[in-house]
Amino acid sequence: MSPRLLSRVVPLLVLAGLSLGHGGTNSEGGSGGCGGGGSDAHGGDEEHPKASGAACPEEGGPTAESFGRAFLETHCLPCHSASVTGAARAGAPVGVDFDTPGAVRLWARLIDAHTAAGPDAVNSEMPPLSSLPAPSLDERLMLGQWLACGAP
Ligand code: HEC
Repeated sequence: MSPRLLSRVVPLLVLAGLSLGHGGTNSEGGSGGCGGGGSDAHGGDEEHPKASGAACPEEGGPTAESFGRAFLETHCLPCHSASVTGAARAGAPVGVDFDTPGAVRLWARLIDAHTAAGPDAVNSEMPPLSSLPAPSLDERLMLGQWLACGAP
């Protein structure tokens, strides 16, 4: 994450230096897009859903039975289930539910981009901070693989 941020900030600083001559002032460059866990869930102007780039392991990946169902039940369904309504959804958009294999496949790309980890990204926008336990990095990696395999 930080190399990317750096590559954005450094040219900015260089530019600022050029135009201000001796700028010495610490221009408080801040506002670096998707900084890690600020105070507010969605500070950024731009969302950054990014595919994790996870691949389905040749020797076979996780299945709903071995991983997916329990993962979703623990980490997502408390908000993203058709059987959860009103305030109990804690803001999860109505209809964004992962109760069935079909629904998981329908939302697979967004689930990956919000929650899964892989060679291209470690996505941790979902689940939001709450009283629920946060998924571990291992779980995020497995989620990426499971989705890449087609969520069997
Ligand atoms: C505590 C409640 C809660 C939990 C648990 C939760 N979400 Fe969400 N989810 C939200 C809210 C609120 C939004 C809408 C705001 C947002 O997109 O940040 C949302 C939106 C989404 C969206 C839609 C984003 C879009 O661009 O339309 C996806 C996909 C998603 N969540 C996936 C997940 C996954 C996968 C999990 C489990 C790992 C999860 N969520 C767990 C509350 C929750």
